[in-house]
Amino acid sequence: MNQSVKKKVFIKTFGCQMNMRDSEIIWEVLLGAGYEMAASQEEADVVLFNTCSVRQHAEDRVIGNLCKLAARKKKDPEFKIGILGCMGARHGEMLLKEYPFLDIVAGPSDIYSIREALEKVFSGEDKVLAVKNKKRPRKKVGNVYWRGGFSAFVNIMYGCNNYCSYCIVPFVRGGEVSRPKNEIINEIKELVQKGAREITLLGQNVNSYGKGLTNKIKFPKLLEAVNKIEGVSRIRFTTSHPKDADKSLFRAIKDLDKVCESLHLPLQSGSNKMLDLMNRGYTREEYFDKIDLLRSMVPDVGLSTDIIVGFPSEKEKDFKATEKAMETIEYNSAFIFKYSPRSPAVSACLVDDVSEEVKKTRNNELLAIQKKISYRKNKELLGSRQEVLVEKMSRMSKDEMTGRARNNVSCVFPGDEGLIGQIVKVEVTGASAHTLKGRCVKEL
Ligand code: 5AD
Ligand code: SF4
Repeated sequence: MNQSVKKKVFIKTFGCQMNMRDSEIIWEVLLGAGYEMAASQEEADVVLFNTCSVRQHAEDRVIGNLCKLAARKKKDPEFKIGILGCMGARHGEMLLKEYPFLDIVAGPSDIYSIREALEKVFSGEDKVLAVKNKKRPRKKVGNVYWRGGFSAFVNIMYGCNNYCSYCIVPFVRGGEVSRPKNEIINEIKELVQKGAREITLLGQNVNSYGKGLTNKIKFPKLLEAVNKIEGVSRIRFTTSHPKDADKSLFRAIKDLDKVCESLHLPLQSGSNKMLDLMNRGYTREEYFDKIDLLRSMVPDVGLSTDIIVGFPSEKEKDFKATEKAMETIEYNSAFIFKYSPRSPAVSACLVDDVSEEVKKTRNNELLAIQKKISYRKNKELLGSRQEVLVEKMSRMSKDEMTGRARNNVSCVFPGDEGLIGQIVKVEVTGASAHTLKGRCVKEL
């Protein structure tokens, strides 16, 4: 870029951890090309929204943010706006037509075209539709950019081949592409050098990692390799698909010292009829068996899940089956979502026949059930000693710090900011539905 004054960029990220990492990759590209970070939207020459399409609500939020910039654009045509990420891939040209003040549209697989798109609009081109790639190209551009702290996300694969019937991801992020092991290991080493201690490996379905690579490798073997990296204290990963999570994964959680005893395993529904309509590829019984096996191998494992309520044709008895499943499994935490049709995902062809009111009631009922379970599970930990990675000052008191135990439950204890990034031993002295309370001790 031939800029006498460096252009300032502001990136606002919506959605999942994958998007957070994608925004870092966009920084890798743009900082390398001579752009600067703007401290706020107001001082930026260009605002880029890295967007999420997983539910309608997520898209509505982006559009709300986008429309707030229309007035500024009218006054200052040199100011540029881009929509990147999943909404870019989902709507493409339609966004440029519908929102004439928008300059750039690109999808998650076009991350490496953003620099060129910016150059075009800054040199006078009217609008740039950079939605081109179906799959994420594997590239390495410049040095790893990382937002800092002590925890880093690392993509091990992009895209998804599962086509769960409600899900937009395979359409906007494309088919599965695994990154070779060496590339991942080198990136983690670079992050550790910069100060990262906790590594979260990211993929839509980490258990199918390795397919299509020349050097065959499966996910547990990758975990083994990451476990050997000096300087890494903790390893987490997300997301696992129940149909692919198996004993070899559970063994890795049990045996590898840096892999935290925690698993996010989205159930989505406790009704076999719904699971079938969702194209999930497992039954509730198969799911229960996997949880039993995991708990027999790793008794203190922390479990979390995602649940969708109000999927088309979900009857009261299907919902009750989900309730029952949650009560039987007793997750430590659960994310509950109201079904949202996402065309061209297959379920968008089904009639969205569960009313908003019923979706809301079911959502609230599951939240209430989970709250009770989380409280009960947290109380079971009273008196136990947990290894906690200290994250930040507690929101409640400046004399307290907060962090996560290995099972991913958050824990608050007296301490100061000097502890951030360190692993401390905490004896649990109190519990609420959302957090454990404790005090630092010398030994576990
Ligand atoms: N409606 C509601 N929730 C959805 N999710 C994915 N697609 C939809 C949809 N169309 C939820 C799933 C997934 C989580 C990331 O978002 O539970 O696991
Ligand atoms: Fe979507 Fe299913 Fe792929 Fe997860 S596994 S990203 S829910 S299609």
